[in-house]
Amino acid sequence: MKTFERNGMMQVLRGERVTKLPVWLMRQAGRYLPEYQAVRSEHDFFSMVRTPKVATEITLQPIRRFKLDAAIIFSDILVVPQALGITVLMEEKKGPIIPIPIRSAADVAALSIDGFESRMQYLSDSVGLTARTLDGECPLIGFAGSPWSLFAYAVEGSGKKSFAAAKAFLYNEPQLSQTFLALLTEGAIRCLKVQIAAGASVVQLFESWGSLLSPTDYERLVLPHIQKIVKEIEPLCPLILFVRGNPAVTDMLAQVTNAPIGIDYTVDLPRMRARFPTRILQGALDPTVLLGPAAEIKKQTHSMLESLGKDNLIANLGHGILPEVKPEAVATFVEAVREF
Ligand code: CP3
Repeated sequence: MKTFERNGMMQVLRGERVTKLPVWLMRQAGRYLPEYQAVRSEHDFFSMVRTPKVATEITLQPIRRFKLDAAIIFSDILVVPQALGITVLMEEKKGPIIPIPIRSAADVAALSIDGFESRMQYLSDSVGLTARTLDGECPLIGFAGSPWSLFAYAVEGSGKKSFAAAKAFLYNEPQLSQTFLALLTEGAIRCLKVQIAAGASVVQLFESWGSLLSPTDYERLVLPHIQKIVKEIEPLCPLILFVRGNPAVTDMLAQVTNAPIGIDYTVDLPRMRARFPTRILQGALDPTVLLGPAAEIKKQTHSMLESLGKDNLIANLGHGILPEVKPEAVATFVEAVREF
């Protein structure tokens, strides 16, 4: 078996200096790849996620093409609400739909964590098969959605601009909201543990809807749940905390944990590095730059890397790749990091 001991990603996460910056991309397995579209045209999204052979194939597609420094398991943040008993569908071009959203005490009471691990067996199998197939070529990242981002989808019923129903529930049902957030927290922790036990070497928590909350509300209503996740997972493997679209919350998480921080493209990079000079940071090129010409991608990538410095850094985008991006643009980004 090959070993990724000397892989730049693991070295950075261990606090070692590297000569070559590690690079991977959020949503690197997905619709921008023709080889993904080919598989997707024949399967429903969640049946792909639930079939280990297919999930492994999709996870490896970007690794074959771009020789990235990390693979991320093909799954979705919404597998946790699913395993708690919530029906989640993936609608073509619309994204996730929850036909019966959580709106009452009875809805929350109907959910259950019992037997959670057996409902996540497919994920354990996918991670195991992918790790064995990678055979040490690079580490495999597991992930989960943050309890707040999962709450937002589960209560709203779909992705929306304002998430008014989710916010109304949060303020009208404060106790019930905390009960539900605690259940989602337990689900996220167990989901991460399943992946770590099956062979994930690193995990990432996605706070995709941190932007819906003021920093004060985040601190009061969500932060204690994040701290619980950190406490449970940190002793097992590196845990990267990624927040989208709320730099004050990114800053808050960096202050209250020692965890590696995934930063998005709305963060002021030189200021972030100055505030956290030795912290492991991951990010943060604006993903829409990949829609521009090669020269612009290189220029912006180099400027991003200069702002964040060469040490304690994992190069990535500041959010997921858009389906409109051409694979050649990803190759340009990876090359720009490698030549830096
Ligand atoms: O390559 C990877 O990053 C691994 C797989 C992965 C997917 N979803 C596959 C996917 C990961 C890490 C996710 C995380 C995820 N899922 C997040 C957090 C990251 C972020 O974008 O903020 C969120 C919010 C979701 C929920 C979700 N799943 C949405 C909103 C959508 C629709 C819009 C979109 O981005 O495609 C999905 C669908 C989804 N998840 C696809 C893939 C490859 C596309 C589904 C399709 O083929 O139709």
